Amino acid sequence: MRISIIVAASENNVIGRDNSIPWHLPDDLKYFRKRTEGHPVIMGRKNFESIVAALGNPLPNRSNIIVTRDSAYEAVGCLVSSSLQEAIMYGHKDNDKEEIFIIGGGEIYRQALDLCNYIYLTRIHAWIAGDIFFPAVDTNVWEEVEREDHLADTAHKFSFTYLTYKRKNRLHF
Ligand SMILES: NC(=O)c1ccc[n+]([C@@H]2O[C@H](COP(=O)([O-])OP(=O)(O)OC[C@H]3O[C@@H](n4cnc5c(N)ncnc54)[C@H](OP(=O)(O)O)[C@@H]3O)[C@@H](O)[C@H]2O)c1
Repeated sequence: MRISIIVAASENNVIGRDNSIPWHLPDDLKYFRKRTEGHPVIMGRKNFESIVAALGNPLPNRSNIIVTRDSAYEAVGCLVSSSLQEAIMYGHKDNDKEEIFIIGGGEIYRQALDLCNYIYLTRIHAWIAGDIFFPAVDTNVWEEVEREDHLADTAHKFSFTYLTYKRKNRLHF
């Protein structure tokens, strides 16, 4: 089973500010959609609420699995889970042989790093102010297996690089 983190981070590892994402890079949003569509996506309650605030609904064409400690939490059309491990189990049941995505935010990514085997990191080539960070990728644990650069242009204020990392050692569940 492939359990993958997908994240976009600035050079200083910022991923969020004031419960939203402090940049707008349409091609990275398309990349996120293309990678995750049809797959279960696991997210923290705060990230889920910021997505709904931005889109008006959960992410379409994906099983949305929300992790919260609030046992009364409900969201129409979504699965709610009390732990990340349970959320991964739900994702696995939903989509047996395929890929499950952990889509943030910061609190969830930190816990997921030990549970996943791929990281899709969009590295934005800018220093950006923020209050939520992604941990530095430890090259003792993670091997870069793919990269593709994207230049800045009229629609993209910053240049960025799509990076794929694979865990060097197998995960044992
Ligand atoms: N750049 C990117 O790629 C990217 C991607 C996603 C999000 N973001 C940004 O990240 C920020 C949100 O991240 P965040 O760290 O504030 O919050 P978060 O990780 O989205 O959600 C945190 C919440 O998840 C629940 N939770 C966390 N660990 C849990 C556990 N072990 N068991 C049960 N529930 C657990 C708790 O919900 P309850 O409080 O309900 O118990 C906690 O308050 C936003 O700024 C967002 O825009 C950026």
